[in-house]
Amino acid sequence: MVQQTGANVIAMAGKGGTGKTTLTALLIKYLVSSNMTPVLAVDADANANLNELLGLEVDVTLGEIRDKMKTETPQGMTKNEFMELHINQAVIEATGFDLLVMGQPEGPGCYCMANSILAQVMEKLARNYRYLLVDNEAGMEHLSRLNLRTIHTLFVVSDPSSRGVLTAARIADLTKALQVDVGKKVLIVNRVPEPIPQALDKHVQNAVKQTDLEFGGYVSASDDIFQKEMAQESLLDLPEDSQVVRQAFDIFSKFLKER
Ligand SMILES: Nc1ncnc2c1ncn2[C@@H]1O[C@H](COP(=O)(O)OP(=O)(O)OP(=O)(O)O)[C@@H](O)[C@H]1O
Ligand SMILES: [Mg+2]
Repeated sequence: MVQQTGANVIAMAGKGGTGKTTLTALLIKYLVSSNMTPVLAVDADANANLNELLGLEVDVTLGEIRDKMKTETPQGMTKNEFMELHINQAVIEATGFDLLVMGQPEGPGCYCMANSILAQVMEKLARNYRYLLVDNEAGMEHLSRLNLRTIHTLFVVSDPSSRGVLTAARIADLTKALQVDVGKKVLIVNRVPEPIPQALDKHVQNAVKQTDLEFGGYVSASDDIFQKEMAQESLLDLPEDSQVVRQAFDIFSKFLKER
Protein backbone atom coordinates (compact mmCIF):
# COMPACT_ATOMS: atom_id res chain seq x y z
CA MET A 1 0.00 0.00 0.00
CA VAL A 2 1.16 3.48 -0.75
CA GLN A 3 1.67 5.33 2.53
CA GLN A 4 1.29 8.97 1.73
CA THR A 5 3.69 10.66 4.01
CA GLY A 6 2.76 14.25 3.54
CA ALA A 7 1.48 14.27 -0.02
CA ASN A 8 -2.07 15.46 -0.33
CA VAL A 9 -3.72 13.00 -2.68
CA ILE A 10 -6.32 14.14 -5.18
CA ALA A 11 -7.96 11.82 -7.69
CA MET A 12 -10.39 12.29 -10.55
CA ALA A 13 -13.25 9.91 -11.21
CA GLY A 14 -16.24 9.93 -13.53
CA LYS A 15 -17.78 8.32 -16.53
CA GLY A 16 -15.89 8.31 -19.85
CA GLY A 17 -15.47 11.61 -21.62
CA THR A 18 -16.86 13.81 -18.83
CA GLY A 19 -13.71 15.92 -18.54
CA LYS A 20 -11.47 14.21 -15.95
CA THR A 21 -8.27 14.79 -17.89
CA THR A 22 -9.21 18.36 -18.80
CA LEU A 23 -9.90 19.17 -15.14
CA THR A 24 -6.68 17.45 -14.07
CA ALA A 25 -4.76 19.77 -16.40
CA LEU A 26 -6.59 22.79 -14.95
CA LEU A 27 -5.88 21.51 -11.44
CA ILE A 28 -2.16 21.31 -12.21
CA LYS A 29 -2.38 24.87 -13.50
CA TYR A 30 -4.11 25.91 -10.28
CA LEU A 31 -1.61 24.26 -7.95
CA VAL A 32 1.40 25.56 -9.86
CA SER A 33 0.08 29.13 -10.08
CA SER A 34 -0.80 29.06 -6.35
CA ASN A 35 2.68 27.80 -5.47
CA MET A 36 1.15 24.67 -3.99
CA THR A 37 4.10 22.71 -5.30
CA PRO A 38 5.85 20.34 -5.90
CA VAL A 39 3.14 18.37 -7.65
CA LEU A 40 3.31 14.86 -9.04
CA ALA A 41 0.63 14.19 -11.64
CA VAL A 42 0.04 10.53 -12.38
CA ASP A 43 -1.68 9.53 -15.59
CA ALA A 44 -3.25 6.22 -14.60
CA ASP A 45 -5.22 5.89 -17.83
CA ALA A 46 -3.93 2.99 -19.96
CA ASN A 47 -4.71 5.17 -22.94
CA ALA A 48 -2.64 8.05 -21.60
CA ASN A 49 -3.38 11.53 -22.89
CA LEU A 50 -2.86 13.95 -20.01
CA ASN A 51 0.61 14.74 -21.37
CA GLU A 52 -0.93 16.09 -24.57
CA LEU A 53 -3.06 18.55 -22.64
CA LEU A 54 0.09 19.71 -20.87
CA GLY A 55 2.24 19.95 -24.00
CA LEU A 56 4.63 17.23 -22.82
CA GLU A 57 6.17 14.26 -24.63
CA VAL A 58 6.32 10.85 -22.99
CA ASP A 59 9.52 8.91 -23.44
CA VAL A 60 8.91 5.89 -21.33
CA THR A 61 6.03 4.77 -19.13
CA LEU A 62 6.14 3.11 -15.76
CA GLY A 63 4.52 0.06 -17.33
CA GLU A 64 7.42 -0.26 -19.76
CA ILE A 65 9.92 -0.10 -16.92
CA ARG A 66 7.95 -2.71 -14.98
CA ASP A 67 8.10 -4.99 -18.05
CA LYS A 68 11.85 -4.43 -18.37
CA MET A 69 12.27 -5.25 -14.70
CA LYS A 70 10.92 -8.72 -15.37
CA THR A 71 13.54 -9.62 -17.95
CA GLU A 72 16.40 -7.17 -17.54
CA THR A 73 17.11 -7.03 -13.81
CA PRO A 74 20.82 -7.83 -13.60
CA GLN A 75 22.11 -10.55 -11.31
CA GLY A 76 22.89 -9.25 -7.86
CA MET A 77 20.17 -6.60 -8.04
CA THR A 78 16.69 -6.99 -6.59
CA LYS A 79 13.67 -6.05 -8.66
CA ASN A 80 12.91 -3.29 -6.17
CA GLU A 81 16.37 -1.84 -6.67
CA PHE A 82 15.95 -2.05 -10.43
CA MET A 83 12.64 -0.18 -10.29
CA GLU A 84 13.99 2.48 -7.97
CA LEU A 85 16.95 3.03 -10.22
CA HIS A 86 14.82 3.36 -13.32
CA ILE A 87 11.69 5.11 -12.08
CA ASN A 88 13.32 8.49 -12.53
CA GLN A 89 13.53 7.85 -16.27
CA ALA A 90 9.74 7.78 -16.32
CA VAL A 91 9.33 11.03 -14.36
CA ILE A 92 8.83 13.89 -16.78
CA GLU A 93 9.97 17.14 -15.22
CA ALA A 94 8.06 20.31 -16.04
CA THR A 95 7.81 23.71 -14.36
CA GLY A 96 6.40 23.25 -10.85
CA PHE A 97 5.23 19.73 -11.45
CA ASP A 98 6.30 16.30 -12.61
CA LEU A 99 4.30 13.83 -14.65
CA LEU A 100 4.41 10.07 -14.40
CA VAL A 101 2.61 7.96 -16.99
CA MET A 102 1.54 4.50 -15.86
CA GLY A 103 0.97 3.08 -19.34
CA GLN A 104 -0.52 -0.30 -20.07
CA PRO A 105 -1.60 -2.42 -17.11
CA GLU A 106 -0.09 -5.83 -16.56
CA GLY A 107 -1.51 -8.65 -18.59
CA PRO A 108 -2.78 -11.73 -16.80
CA GLY A 109 -0.05 -13.65 -15.03
CA CYS A 110 2.28 -12.21 -12.44
CA TYR A 111 -0.06 -9.33 -11.61
CA CYS A 112 0.49 -9.07 -7.90
CA MET A 113 4.23 -8.99 -7.54
CA ALA A 114 4.95 -6.42 -10.22
CA ASN A 115 2.14 -4.23 -8.90
CA SER A 116 3.28 -4.46 -5.32
CA ILE A 117 6.82 -3.51 -6.31
CA LEU A 118 5.42 -0.65 -8.30
CA ALA A 119 3.33 0.48 -5.35
CA GLN A 120 6.35 0.43 -3.04
CA VAL A 121 8.43 2.46 -5.44
CA MET A 122 5.58 4.91 -5.97
CA GLU A 123 5.24 5.28 -2.23
CA LYS A 124 8.82 6.41 -1.92
CA LEU A 125 8.53 8.73 -4.86
CA ALA A 126 5.33 10.34 -3.53
CA ARG A 127 7.16 11.43 -0.37
CA ASN A 128 8.95 14.07 -2.41
CA TYR A 129 5.76 15.91 -3.34
CA ARG A 130 3.20 18.13 -1.68
CA TYR A 131 0.38 17.06 -4.00
CA LEU A 132 -0.19 13.80 -5.79
CA LEU A 133 -2.82 14.02 -8.54
CA VAL A 134 -4.23 10.97 -10.19
CA ASP A 135 -6.09 11.13 -13.49
CA ASN A 136 -8.05 7.94 -14.00
CA GLU A 137 -9.87 6.31 -16.78
CA ALA A 138 -13.58 5.74 -16.28
CA GLY A 139 -14.29 3.07 -13.68
CA MET A 140 -13.13 2.98 -10.11
CA GLU A 141 -11.26 -0.31 -10.38
CA HIS A 142 -8.35 1.48 -11.99
CA LEU A 143 -7.73 3.35 -8.80
CA SER A 144 -6.81 0.08 -7.15
CA ARG A 145 -3.88 -0.26 -9.55
CA LEU A 146 -2.08 2.38 -7.58
CA ASN A 147 -2.72 0.77 -4.21
CA LEU A 148 -3.46 4.15 -2.71
CA ARG A 149 -4.35 3.96 0.95
CA THR A 150 -5.85 7.42 1.18
CA ILE A 151 -7.41 9.82 -1.25
CA HIS A 152 -7.91 13.12 0.50
CA THR A 153 -10.10 14.64 -2.18
CA LEU A 154 -11.92 12.75 -4.93
CA PHE A 155 -13.38 14.92 -7.67
CA VAL A 156 -16.23 13.13 -9.41
CA VAL A 157 -16.84 14.71 -12.80
CA SER A 158 -20.25 14.56 -14.46
CA ASP A 159 -21.72 15.69 -17.74
CA PRO A 160 -24.70 18.04 -17.53
CA SER A 161 -27.49 15.45 -17.70
CA SER A 162 -29.89 13.86 -15.22
CA ARG A 163 -28.43 10.41 -15.80
CA GLY A 164 -24.90 11.75 -15.75
CA VAL A 165 -25.43 13.18 -12.30
CA LEU A 166 -26.97 9.90 -11.10
CA THR A 167 -23.96 8.02 -12.46
CA ALA A 168 -21.64 10.35 -10.59
CA ALA A 169 -23.53 9.62 -7.39
CA ARG A 170 -23.20 5.89 -8.06
CA ILE A 171 -19.47 6.23 -8.71
CA ALA A 172 -19.10 8.07 -5.42
CA ASP A 173 -20.85 5.16 -3.70
CA LEU A 174 -18.60 2.59 -5.39
CA THR A 175 -15.56 4.02 -3.64
CA LYS A 176 -16.89 2.44 -0.44
CA ALA A 177 -16.05 -0.99 -1.86
CA LEU A 178 -12.43 0.01 -2.51
CA GLN A 179 -9.76 -0.49 0.08
CA VAL A 180 -9.03 3.17 0.20
CA ASP A 181 -10.01 5.90 2.61
CA VAL A 182 -11.67 8.71 0.74
CA GLY A 183 -11.81 12.05 2.52
CA LYS A 184 -14.01 14.45 0.60
CA LYS A 185 -15.98 13.53 -2.50
CA VAL A 186 -16.72 16.55 -4.60
CA LEU A 187 -19.06 16.68 -7.59
CA ILE A 188 -18.08 18.85 -10.55
CA VAL A 189 -20.64 19.19 -13.31
CA ASN A 190 -18.71 19.99 -16.46
CA ARG A 191 -19.59 21.39 -19.89
CA VAL A 192 -22.76 23.02 -18.65
CA PRO A 193 -24.77 25.25 -20.97
CA GLU A 194 -25.50 28.81 -19.94
CA PRO A 195 -27.67 29.80 -18.28
CA ILE A 196 -27.64 26.69 -16.11
CA PRO A 197 -30.97 24.89 -16.57
CA GLN A 198 -33.03 24.82 -13.37
CA ALA A 199 -33.86 21.17 -13.94
CA LEU A 200 -30.14 20.31 -13.90
CA ASP A 201 -29.68 22.17 -10.66
CA LYS A 202 -32.54 20.15 -9.15
CA HIS A 203 -30.93 16.85 -10.19
CA VAL A 204 -27.67 17.99 -8.70
CA GLN A 205 -29.28 18.96 -5.41
CA ASN A 206 -31.02 15.56 -5.25
CA ALA A 207 -27.82 13.64 -5.97
CA VAL A 208 -26.00 15.58 -3.29
CA LYS A 209 -28.77 14.91 -0.77
CA GLN A 210 -28.75 11.17 -1.41
CA THR A 211 -24.99 10.60 -1.18
CA ASP A 212 -21.96 11.81 0.64
CA LEU A 213 -20.98 13.89 -2.38
CA GLU A 214 -20.49 17.58 -1.79
CA PHE A 215 -21.32 19.91 -4.61
CA GLY A 216 -18.19 21.59 -5.97
CA GLY A 217 -19.61 23.66 -8.77
CA TYR A 218 -20.35 24.01 -12.44
CA VAL A 219 -17.81 24.41 -15.23
CA SER A 220 -19.17 25.81 -18.48
CA ALA A 221 -18.81 24.35 -21.93
CA SER A 222 -15.90 26.44 -23.08
CA ASP A 223 -14.81 27.61 -26.47
CA ASP A 224 -11.33 28.28 -25.02
CA ILE A 225 -10.96 24.57 -24.19
CA PHE A 226 -12.30 23.62 -27.59
CA GLN A 227 -9.83 25.93 -29.37
CA LYS A 228 -6.85 24.62 -27.39
CA GLU A 229 -7.92 21.05 -28.07
CA MET A 230 -8.20 21.72 -31.80
CA ALA A 231 -4.82 23.47 -31.93
CA GLN A 232 -3.28 20.67 -29.79
CA GLU A 233 -1.95 23.29 -27.41
CA SER A 234 -1.34 23.05 -23.69
CA LEU A 235 -4.23 23.97 -21.39
CA LEU A 236 -1.58 25.42 -19.07
CA ASP A 237 -1.38 28.36 -21.49
CA LEU A 238 -5.02 29.37 -21.02
CA PRO A 239 -5.22 32.89 -19.58
CA GLU A 240 -6.27 33.01 -15.93
CA ASP A 241 -9.13 35.35 -16.77
CA SER A 242 -10.66 32.76 -19.06
CA GLN A 243 -14.11 31.92 -17.64
CA VAL A 244 -13.46 28.19 -17.54
CA VAL A 245 -10.18 28.70 -15.68
CA ARG A 246 -11.87 30.95 -13.14
CA GLN A 247 -14.70 28.50 -12.58
CA ALA A 248 -12.32 25.58 -12.09
CA PHE A 249 -9.99 27.61 -9.83
CA ASP A 250 -12.96 28.69 -7.68
CA ILE A 251 -13.88 25.06 -7.10
CA PHE A 252 -10.31 24.00 -6.38
CA SER A 253 -9.72 26.85 -3.96
CA LYS A 254 -12.84 25.90 -1.98
CA PHE A 255 -11.82 22.29 -1.50
CA LEU A 256 -8.05 22.28 -1.50
CA LYS A 257 -7.25 24.21 1.59
CA GLU A 258 -3.85 23.28 2.92
CA ARG A 259 -4.19 20.52 5.44
N1 LIG B 1 -15.54 22.51 -20.08
C1 LIG B 1 -15.32 22.04 -21.31
N2 LIG B 1 -15.62 22.78 -22.40
C2 LIG B 1 -15.40 22.31 -23.64
N3 LIG B 1 -14.89 21.12 -23.92
C3 LIG B 1 -14.56 20.33 -22.89
C4 LIG B 1 -14.74 20.73 -21.54
N4 LIG B 1 -14.31 19.74 -20.73
C5 LIG B 1 -13.89 18.76 -21.54
N5 LIG B 1 -14.03 19.09 -22.84
C6 LIG B 1 -13.70 18.26 -24.01
O1 LIG B 1 -14.37 17.02 -23.87
C7 LIG B 1 -13.59 15.95 -24.35
C8 LIG B 1 -13.42 14.90 -23.24
O2 LIG B 1 -12.68 15.50 -22.17
P1 LIG B 1 -11.60 14.69 -21.34
O3 LIG B 1 -10.68 13.95 -22.24
O4 LIG B 1 -11.06 15.62 -20.35
O5 LIG B 1 -12.58 13.63 -20.63
P2 LIG B 1 -12.18 12.35 -19.76
O6 LIG B 1 -13.22 12.22 -18.72
O7 LIG B 1 -10.77 12.46 -19.31
O8 LIG B 1 -12.32 11.19 -20.85
P3 LIG B 1 -11.81 9.66 -20.70
O9 LIG B 1 -12.85 8.98 -19.86
O10 LIG B 1 -11.80 9.19 -22.10
O11 LIG B 1 -10.47 9.70 -20.05
C9 LIG B 1 -12.29 16.56 -24.83
O12 LIG B 1 -12.34 16.74 -26.21
C10 LIG B 1 -12.24 17.91 -24.09
O13 LIG B 1 -11.52 18.87 -24.84
MG1 LIG C 1 -9.19 11.10 -19.50
